[in-house]
Amino acid sequence: FMLKEIFEGPEAVENSSRGRVMVKEGKAKLGGIESVSQKLEKINRLIITGCGTAYYAGMLGKYMLEEYAGIATEVDNASELRYRQPIFSPDTALLSISQSGETADTLAAIREAKKMGLTTLGITNVVGSTIAREVDAGVYNHIGPEIGVASTKAFISQLIVLLLLALHLGRDRKMSASEGKQIAAEIAVLPSKMRRIFRFKEKIEEIARKYSEYDNFLYMGRKYSFPIALEGALKLKEISYMHAEGYSAGEMKHGPIAMIDENFPSVFIAPRDSVYQKTLGNMEEIKARDGKIIAIATEGDER
Ligand code: M6R
Repeated sequence: FMLKEIFEGPEAVENSSRGRVMVKEGKAKLGGIESVSQKLEKINRLIITGCGTAYYAGMLGKYMLEEYAGIATEVDNASELRYRQPIFSPDTALLSISQSGETADTLAAIREAKKMGLTTLGITNVVGSTIAREVDAGVYNHIGPEIGVASTKAFISQLIVLLLLALHLGRDRKMSASEGKQIAAEIAVLPSKMRRIFRFKEKIEEIARKYSEYDNFLYMGRKYSFPIALEGALKLKEISYMHAEGYSAGEMKHGPIAMIDENFPSVFIAPRDSVYQKTLGNMEEIKARDGKIIAIATEGDER
């Protein structure tokens, strides 16, 4: 099921964005949160919460919402948020993310936020789930059931819904029409770009086989690739029972680099983005310690 669901990733993007992207206008239409649109206009701070994969999606959501919508955003594990004593101002909304819509810690965090009078939003996949019913408003993933225990297509879908949310809120705030159109156009072509990755499946299998005897892995990336590194390490632990840690590449030199030698490979998520050069610098440091590197990079990037 997990493999089947990995291959359903492009379809997940299509299903989660269908009818929600207005390419010509550069806007997103999210019917599920229309009932709270006036409240959302007044929101100055968002707290995103969830567990595991959903929490990592939230970390990426923070970057998107701050960069594109200009909304100060924090992310907290639901299991922490529910037990600490957070201070929320009335202009705060809580955005919970949960594939199943039933995770106890996430639900408890929502209930705490409601007690404090916050507007609560949800991104859930299971229609009619407890979280879907308890939040004030929300957006469904619409990706069908996720049977595999390891979240794959749901993670991808959560990122798309967060991007749609950033587009929707951003266009009401700081985002220009041309930036909105660019993002909307990219969402439309994303499934075909994802399908291109599947052409490399033999190559990926070959790499997996080559590294299957190692005991430890460090996953690293910067900016948007940092939460992806955390999610990658989680997947390796959960599915292969191998030790893996996710780290922000910039933090590597503040401790974890001490572990690196020829027996401790690193997986770098290194697309050609705004932090590409910095990531390359980190890769050089790993190489200087004889560390082996598996790089997930932009097609055609030979460096
Ligand atoms: O159903 P939820 O999204 O609330 O589940 C939260 C986590 O248990 C879940 O994301 C988990 O970390 C993944 N299935 C791991 O692959």
